[in-house]
Amino acid sequence: MEQIENKTELTPKQIVERLDSYIIGQEKAKRAVAVALRNRFRRLKLPEEIRDEVAPKNILMIGPTGCGKTEIARRLAKLCGAPFLKVEATKYTEVGYVGRDVESMIRDLMAVGYNDVKAEMEEQLREKSVSVVEEKLLDLLLPGTDKKDDKKSKSDSGSDGKMEIKPLGFLTQPNPNEITIDLNKVAADMQEALNQANQAAAEQQKADEDAAEKERENHTREKFRQMLREGKLEDREVEMVVHRPQGMPNMEIIAGGSIDDLQNSMQGILNMMNGQGRGKKRNITVKEARKILTEEVLDNMVDHDKVADEAKKRVEQSGIIFIDEIDKIAVHGESHGQDVSREGVQRDILPIVEGSNVNTKFGVVDTTHILFIAAGAFSVAAPSDLIPELQGRFPLRVELDSLHKDDFKRILSEPKNSLIMQYTSLLETEGVKLDITEDALDRMSTVAEEVNASAENIGARRLHTIMEKVLADINFEADEHKGETIKIDAAYVDEKLEGISQNQDLSRYIL
Ligand SMILES: Nc1ncnc2c1ncn2[C@@H]1O[C@H](COP(=O)(O)OP(=O)(O)OP(=O)(O)O)[C@@H](O)[C@H]1O
Ligand SMILES: [Mg+2]
Repeated sequence: MEQIENKTELTPKQIVERLDSYIIGQEKAKRAVAVALRNRFRRLKLPEEIRDEVAPKNILMIGPTGCGKTEIARRLAKLCGAPFLKVEATKYTEVGYVGRDVESMIRDLMAVGYNDVKAEMEEQLREKSVSVVEEKLLDLLLPGTDKKDDKKSKSDSGSDGKMEIKPLGFLTQPNPNEITIDLNKVAADMQEALNQANQAAAEQQKADEDAAEKERENHTREKFRQMLREGKLEDREVEMVVHRPQGMPNMEIIAGGSIDDLQNSMQGILNMMNGQGRGKKRNITVKEARKILTEEVLDNMVDHDKVADEAKKRVEQSGIIFIDEIDKIAVHGESHGQDVSREGVQRDILPIVEGSNVNTKFGVVDTTHILFIAAGAFSVAAPSDLIPELQGRFPLRVELDSLHKDDFKRILSEPKNSLIMQYTSLLETEGVKLDITEDALDRMSTVAEEVNASAENIGARRLHTIMEKVLADINFEADEHKGETIKIDAAYVDEKLEGISQNQDLSRYIL
C-alpha cells in the first residue's frame, strides 16, 4: 500500500522525467498521460462525496506508426505503481470469436492487481518464511529424522526411565490382624515386581540410546543447517514432490466468464482428474527446492481474501487500461463484413469505459473510475470513424509527432535501452568492443529519414533494420575479432549500406 502511494505521488514533472529516459520527444503525449496519472491521485484526496463525481479524463493518442505510442504505454506501466493493463483492441475481433468478451479486459486487470498485491504481501512475509523453508529443506536433506522423533516421544511418555517397584499386594492389606498369607500370590507378586524392574531397566537403556541417537541427529541436523546457511549444499540433490504450477482450476465460468475462460477451466479440471495437479516425486537440487518451497510457504502464509480486497480497491480507484490499435476497430466509410464485428467491439467497449459492473473471480468490479488510454495510428481511419459515443468517451486528444533525423539520432543513443547500448553489450559478451562515432550516428539517422520518406514511414522501427544491416557482418564474425575494438564511422556505415539506401526498390525490401 505504501508503495502505491509513493509511486503515485510522482508529480507530472517527475513522471515526464522518467518517461524522458526512454522516449525521445513526444512532449505533449507525455504531459497528457502524466497529468492524467496525477489526477487519479488528486481525486483520492477529495472528500468522498466529490470523489465519486470526478470521472477520469480518458485519453486518445494519435500518431504515425513507430513514433512511440506503445513504448509510452509500456514505460508508464512500470512507473505508475497502479494496476496497469495493455490490450490490443483487435484482440476482440479475432475470427471465430464473435467479439472475445470485451469484459475480459477487466478480469485481466483484476488479475494484474491481484498479482501485484500478492507479490507485495509476499515480500513482507519473505523474511518470516526463511526459517520455515530451512526446516523443510533439512527434512528433505535428512529424510526420516522426524519419523524417529515420533517413536521416541511415544516411549518417552510410556516411562521416564526410573525404576519403580509398585507396593506388593500383601503389604497393603487394610487390616494387619487379619493377615492370611497366600504364598502363591506372594510368589506371583514378587515375580511381577522383578519383571517390572527388568522392563524398566530395558526401557531406560532404550531411552538412553534414543536420546543419544536424537542427539546425534540433532548434531547432524545442526551441522547440515550450518552447511546450508553457508551455501555448501546448493547443488546437493533431494527428492521432493513437485506440484505443477497451476493452482486452482479457473472457476470463473461460474462467476460469469466467457467461452475461452471456460476452455481454460475445463483444462484445469481435466488436469486435476489425470492427477497432474497432484504433483510427482522428482530429484532436484537444494537450490531449486528452496525456490519451490519458498513459493509454497509464502502462498500458504498470504491471506488471499485480503489480497483480493486490496486488489479490487486498487483496480477500481486507480486502475489503468491502455487500449492499443484502437484505429483498427474504427470503420472507414460503408460498413460490411468484418466491419460489423469491429463496430460490435466498439459498442461492447462503451459500457466498460462509461462505468459498469463486471463479474470477476475476485468479486464484482466497478469500472467507473478506471482510466482508459487509447492509441492508434489512424492512418486509414480517422478518430471520427469511431462510433460517436465512443469518441465522446475519450475527450483528451494528443497527437504524437512523426519522427525526424534529429530524433532518430537521439533514439539511437540516448534512451536507457537504446539500440546502440543493446548491440554493444551483446557483442561485449564475445569480447568485441564497438566504438560507434558521432558521424556514424548522423549517417544512420539520415538514411533512416530518407528511406522513411521514400518508402513507407515506419518511424523509429526503421532504425532496427538499419542497425541490423550495418552490424550484420560483425555479428556474424564476432569470434574472429575477440579482444578487438571495432570502429564504426560514417564511412563504415556507407560501405555496409552501399547501393541499398540510394536504390529505392532495394531499400524497400532490405531496410
Ligand atoms: N519517441 C521515441 N523514443 C524512443 N524510442 C522510440 C520512439 N518512438 C519509437 N521508438 C522505438 O521504436 C519502436 C516502435 O515504437 P512503438 O512500438 O512505440 O510504435 P507505435 O507508435 O506503437 O507504432 P504502431 O502504431 O505501429 O503501434 C520501439 O522499439 C521504440 O523503442
Ligand atoms: Mg503500437
